[in-house]
Amino acid sequence: MRIVTAVAPVNIATIKYWGKRDDDLILPLNDSFSATLSLEDMCAKTTVMISPYLLENKFWLNGKEENMDNPRLSNCLKALKDRLNKENSEEVSSWKIHICSENNFPTAAGLASSAAGYACLVYALASLYQVDGDITAIARNGSGSACRSIFGGWVRWHKGSLEDGTDSIATQIFPTDHWPEIRVLVLVVNDSRKKYSSTLGMKQTVMTSELLKHRTKFVVPDRIEKIIDAVHKKDFQSFAKLTMKDSNQFHAVCCDTYPPCFYMNDVSHAIIDMVHVYNEFKGQLKIAYTFDAGPNACLFIQESDLSEVLSLIRYVFPSNLNANEYYRGIALDKDLFSKDLSLPTGITQYGLNTLRYIIHTKIGDGPRLLQDAKEHLLDSNGLPKNC
Ligand code: DP6
Repeated sequence: MRIVTAVAPVNIATIKYWGKRDDDLILPLNDSFSATLSLEDMCAKTTVMISPYLLENKFWLNGKEENMDNPRLSNCLKALKDRLNKENSEEVSSWKIHICSENNFPTAAGLASSAAGYACLVYALASLYQVDGDITAIARNGSGSACRSIFGGWVRWHKGSLEDGTDSIATQIFPTDHWPEIRVLVLVVNDSRKKYSSTLGMKQTVMTSELLKHRTKFVVPDRIEKIIDAVHKKDFQSFAKLTMKDSNQFHAVCCDTYPPCFYMNDVSHAIIDMVHVYNEFKGQLKIAYTFDAGPNACLFIQESDLSEVLSLIRYVFPSNLNANEYYRGIALDKDLFSKDLSLPTGITQYGLNTLRYIIHTKIGDGPRLLQDAKEHLLDSNGLPKNC
């Protein structure tokens, strides 16, 4: 019997992946670039067990048994088994597998849960089957954006050009500690499940959007180089502008899809408005927003502006939740909010609890194994401990 438990991070793209050139191999139309978020505040956790005594393959996600016939899951498993170490491959590859996975953040609410989930699964399985070398192309088979969660820091997913997709891999461009002043605030607007999955949304976009063709051919290639240069130089002004423009273009492409897919809602638009009014008032870019396929915002700021930005958000989006429910993630200094905040004139204040809560986090490391047996989500019979 072998059992392994791993945790893997969420990543947030600042240059978005949207559109595949091959749906089965999950090959993207353009390169993308992302920041990996700290495992301490948001992560997926997965235990995998193989044993000659297990009778069938089984999979539990967030406490619920799921179907193992999912083609993406089978493709990841097959790709890993194909790379099994020759010595014990025959025996081990015939053993049945139990998988138990959970997220400590809202699933499928546009918070990259599938990316963290598949990265975690592939990382844990690679360790279980002792597979060496690149595993980002295998994680890509689970969910495109998952390949970027295999590394910490700042990551690029290269679209590649080979037909079999073997060069469509992710690489780390800058390590976790490259730009330690960067902080991320995830503003959770709504954590119910989203209407259209990214997979379906992007398929519809590829079939119908003219704007997507312009984006992938003329916009993204240049933007990728520019954002890498901005992160390299720790140039927050350029980084923030490119990040916001790319988020806006991604949602414009979603609007150009027929029928259109709307992922942002009125609260998302209120956040965008707040950021622009505030940046204008400060005479420079202090906050950058980015939105994935959901209404929640991810804000990039610099640590020195944390107190002021949090006070701004609390003013614009008042809440009657107690502090530990409203502010999650990196612990806050109590005095952080006592500061007098000078506000832009005419800034809109929204109703109580328009925003649900905030997760305060930073750039973090890639997946890791948890060695302590207490961390396993499966018991010695291969059954979930928390069901
Ligand atoms: C908006 O990786 O979830 O988050 O490859 O079909 O599983 P599939 O899609 P997925 O798409 C993520 C899209 C995005 C942008 C991004 O993360 O780059």
